[in-house]
Amino acid sequence: MSKRRSGKKKSSYQQGDRYTQKARDEGYAARSVYKLQEIQKRARILQRGQKVVDLGCYPGSWSDYAIKQVGPKGRVVGVDFTAPALPHGVWIAESIYDVTTEQILTALDGHADLMMSDMAPPTTGARDADHYVQIELARRALEVAVAVGKLGSSFVCKVFEGGDARAFQLEAQVHYKVRRIRPDAVRANSREWFLVGTGKKTPPAPWPVE
Ligand SMILES: C[S@@+](CC[C@H](N)C(=O)[O-])C[C@H]1O[C@@H](n2cnc3c(N)ncnc32)[C@H](O)[C@@H]1O
Repeated sequence: MSKRRSGKKKSSYQQGDRYTQKARDEGYAARSVYKLQEIQKRARILQRGQKVVDLGCYPGSWSDYAIKQVGPKGRVVGVDFTAPALPHGVWIAESIYDVTTEQILTALDGHADLMMSDMAPPTTGARDADHYVQIELARRALEVAVAVGKLGSSFVCKVFEGGDARAFQLEAQVHYKVRRIRPDAVRANSREWFLVGTGKKTPPAPWPVE
């Protein structure tokens, strides 16, 4: 049905913005790629030859960008309910609450140089409720990063601001040197920011296990 016949006008959110258009023009699956691109510009977390894990990887723009950055000698493993339609990645189509450390280590064939999480639940508009569900995803991402990330590795994690965000940052600071980045591509009305941890101080789980 046409816009006029349905009587419903698209909101500016639905219409998209300059990042949505740029993502279309550059062939990325989502505008989120420009958040990672800015984090990369400011923190230089991606390098050629790295092993990278992308939690909440669907539809695939972060993985797509990471695959280009790490090059043919690197490896990108993505976890989400649905696998992105991208060549050159290794996909685990499962919830992060069900996937095991061993599954990720096996898919990576070793420990990770970078663990990234853009995981978010479907939002309800109830900010507190959305925050608490999302911060649990961030905590699970940190748990996986601690087990899978090699000494000196990095961690990038989406956080919805709220009551537990500061506590989460302190938990991450046990393992990483931490800073907060709010990329320009984050929508003005969003409470999200990214925790960027570098220089992992704690060793990962042993692998392969004898
Ligand atoms: C904002 S999207 C990620 C976009 C992605 N970074 C990109 O650039 O294409 C958030 C993703 O988190 C995923 N997610 C939410 N809960 C999850 C869970 N329990 N396990 C794995 N992925 C989850 C969603 O399925 C969704 O695809």
